[in-house]
Amino acid sequence: MPHSHDHCNHLPGEACSGDHGHATGPQLVPPPLALYVHLPWCVRKCPYCDFNSHAAKGELPFDAYIDALIRDLDQDLPLVWGRVVSSVFFGGGTPSLFPPEAIDRFLQAASARLRFAPNLEVTLETNPGTAEHGRFDRYRQAGVNRISFGIQTFNDEALKRLGRIHDSGEAERAVKLAQDAGYRNFNIDLMYALPQQTLAHAEHDLERAFALDPTHISHYQLTLEPNTVFFARPPQGIPDEDSAWDIQEHCQALLAQAGYGHYEVSAYARDGYQCAHNLNYWRFGDYLGIGAGAHGKISSGAEQHVLRRWKHKHPQTFMDTAGTAASIGGDDVISADRLPFEYMLNLLRLHEGFSLRDFESRTGLQRSVLQPALDTAVARGWLANSKDLWVPTDLGRRFTNDVVELFLA
Ligand SMILES: C[S@@+](CC[C@H](N)C(=O)[O-])C[C@H]1O[C@@H](n2cnc3c(N)ncnc32)[C@H](O)[C@@H]1O
Ligand code: SF4
Repeated sequence: MPHSHDHCNHLPGEACSGDHGHATGPQLVPPPLALYVHLPWCVRKCPYCDFNSHAAKGELPFDAYIDALIRDLDQDLPLVWGRVVSSVFFGGGTPSLFPPEAIDRFLQAASARLRFAPNLEVTLETNPGTAEHGRFDRYRQAGVNRISFGIQTFNDEALKRLGRIHDSGEAERAVKLAQDAGYRNFNIDLMYALPQQTLAHAEHDLERAFALDPTHISHYQLTLEPNTVFFARPPQGIPDEDSAWDIQEHCQALLAQAGYGHYEVSAYARDGYQCAHNLNYWRFGDYLGIGAGAHGKISSGAEQHVLRRWKHKHPQTFMDTAGTAASIGGDDVISADRLPFEYMLNLLRLHEGFSLRDFESRTGLQRSVLQPALDTAVARGWLANSKDLWVPTDLGRRFTNDVVELFLA
């Protein structure tokens, strides 16, 4: 429990003058709740990707996996009794490998067990190389109301170098299939600072994306992640930090001109189309994580703590153990020492900033624990403050990692 009073000698409930951040003051109030569902297979593993994704070998056990997801959900339900779920996100891996009937079966089972908000956002990640005619209609009927396409770039040479299973024409056709099925709310994932990418190439990628009129664009800098092929053997011609920064600045300006508001490090959206599910992560909201390797974060008002729970990574082990304690990779209560850092790691990604009232209700800690770090951040020009709102400045956004580090205990 983060709020163990072992280190001070007042009685529970008695006012504590110590400045170590626990309650008699603030109470942790459970924030909005989301549901993340991990679907772990892909046609092929991309050489830059460190997600928990596995190349499909032969027929995939769709039905058995959905059964396992439902057992997994049943096991986690006591953590969230009575709470309303505001978004569902099918992530991967490549969720679009799953037939609509499988997605439908899971959503029906979930809606029988959880209270879904009336305006529930339901996103499905889609690899354009798996898009098939007729499927989007049925995803829609199942309740999926937002599609996130992993396109990465519209440059066919670059797509090959990234080991992608589709070319740019297929990517555009996949988006049109979804539009024909009535999807207006969709995201396009692009990556920049790709091997041999010039500024002109990166700008051209955005122009091609704009032509498809997405409501949301995620614009990620390619990172070389440990345990990937690219990390072991970096490809030729990755732009250096200065060139990557130059690409980012120019692309930000193009996105703004095209009407996409920059609201998080890598996320841009038309007004009213910010991704509710991801926003909830960045606002330090709660989420159940269902499926192989999925991570959840759940606050308990009764326990006054925040629990992280994660599931076994390997799909077969997960399926064999789902619904039993053996499927749980770990349960970890975030310590009071670490909560400020974990809160800031998320909130400082957002342009909207945060309030100390929100910090108190989402951590149960007193605002005074943040004050020294806040003072330093303001003195360095990284945060601006007006009333109870704290917002990262342009400089602060450029050095997010340094700002977040100030909040390490
Ligand atoms: C789970 S994948 C999306 C769906 C689907 N698997 C696909 O790739 O088409 C999430 C997104 O993360 C981004 N991503 C993955 N690895 C990355 C890396 N090493 N650096 C930057 N972005 C990365 C890609 O844009 C990718 O579309
Ligand atoms: S398709 Fe997506 S999840 Fe699968 S390996 Fe490629 S980037 Fe990773």
